[in-house]
Amino acid sequence: MRGRSESRTDLVLAELGSLEDAIDRDALAAVCRSFFALFGLSVRIVGESGQLLADVHEEAAICTYARTFPKGRAACDALTTELKHIDPGRESLVHPCFTGAVYRIEPVAYQGRAIGRLILGPYRRPDDERARAEREGAPIARLLERVPELDRAEAKARLRQMPVVREDTAARISAHLAVMVQHLAFASHRALLASEMHIASVRESHRELVAQKEDLEAAYARLQEADQLKSNFLSTVSHELRTPLTSIIGYAEMLRTEMLGPLDGELRECAQTIQQRGEHLLQLISRLLDVGRLERGHVLLERTWLDPAAAVQTVVEDIEPLAAKRDVSLALELDQPLPTLHADPIRLRQILLNLIENAVKFSHDGGTVTIRVEAATIEKLPREGLAAALFGPPTQALRFRVIDNGVGIPASAITKVFEPFFQAESGSTRRYGGAGLGLAIVSGLVEAHGGHITVQSAPDVKTEFCVTLPLERPDE
Ligand SMILES: Nc1ncnc2c1ncn2[C@@H]1O[C@H](COP(=O)(O)OP(=O)(O)OP(=O)(O)O)[C@@H](O)[C@H]1O
Ligand SMILES: [Mg+2]
Repeated sequence: MRGRSESRTDLVLAELGSLEDAIDRDALAAVCRSFFALFGLSVRIVGESGQLLADVHEEAAICTYARTFPKGRAACDALTTELKHIDPGRESLVHPCFTGAVYRIEPVAYQGRAIGRLILGPYRRPDDERARAEREGAPIARLLERVPELDRAEAKARLRQMPVVREDTAARISAHLAVMVQHLAFASHRALLASEMHIASVRESHRELVAQKEDLEAAYARLQEADQLKSNFLSTVSHELRTPLTSIIGYAEMLRTEMLGPLDGELRECAQTIQQRGEHLLQLISRLLDVGRLERGHVLLERTWLDPAAAVQTVVEDIEPLAAKRDVSLALELDQPLPTLHADPIRLRQILLNLIENAVKFSHDGGTVTIRVEAATIEKLPREGLAAALFGPPTQALRFRVIDNGVGIPASAITKVFEPFFQAESGSTRRYGGAGLGLAIVSGLVEAHGGHITVQSAPDVKTEFCVTLPLERPDE
């Protein structure tokens, strides 16, 4: 498949580049806060490039004091910046503060690579030479060198308030914190991988969908082409058949009416059968041509203002004998008065004839076919836009309902009955005759008049075809 092989390249697992790339900052801050609450030591976590990711600290009393003097503030700021960029390598290191305290910098490694570091402190060390000396006052002297404005006694008192941590304890707790941060990095990495895999699979499905859509579009284009070829073929064949068929019918009629000489009874019957079958065939060919023209929108309507009641009555009278044969009664219900209709009388007759013929054909013996004609309005013509439906006045129309209580149309077939050659029941041609063209022609003609047709059916109870035609086309 086109999409599948390409998408494999997307499934390379993502690496966690640096802490700042993916780590959950809220979780990191929460860990630092609980660390501070537990050990009372300030902690900062920075990414590979020195970006501050979490910072939980309480300014030491000596720092607050030193920062009240410009030199003290400058020394403090310089140290804070420096600390963020010190790379401890693979081992943790201790970095001195100008106050005599220290910071511990611990690397955070993941998958064998440094991805950030944590900075613990400041704190004082009780057990080394330097701290001892500090208690005796030597570092104070150095501090006063850096920030001469400090009051010695005050500085000493404040320095004593700083937490004192043994070096091995500081090493253990900073290593412990580094492990916790590693766990957080692992969780973040796992979430990152899961989301990357999700994105890759969505991308994969999208690619498959695009490929399927392209295949479908190509198939649709081929079908349209085939459909066009079929229509062209049908109309060419129909045209070619019509001319010789008209001659056959003509000669058969000449034979039957003995224009070419006397015929005995049997031969005359043969000539009559040839003529009848020929006419039937010619009618079928005309309908095929009609379907083709309607599909291409090539039907020309010759409209006149006509009386719809009279049009329906004539059709009903013509179908009466067919209905009588099946003991089907025809009931005509006409609203009074009915408006006149601007329509092509021959095409209107074709519409009504097809619908009523169907109703009779698919009725049970002894059934009833009701034809109702009533005035109506159309809120929106199908070809008009939404704006016309909302703001335009309703169009005056006529509604023709043809209702029977015959075999009906199963729900699975109801949307297809207007397609050419469709017949709901397989074997319908044998049982009921016909070619499945009537409704395709009807719906094409109704649309050509600017109207619409609907159908509802409850088999053996009620089947209703409803044609709504505007009294005149609004664009005329
Ligand atoms: N009143 C109806 N009751 C039940 N089924 C119907 C009714 N009208 C149409 N159908 C179903 O719709 C199909 C298509 O109707 P359509 O008029 O197009 O074709 P047809 O009557 O079978 O043949 P043709 O009209 O070409 O002689 C019919 O074969 C039938 O299955
Ligand atoms: Mg029919």
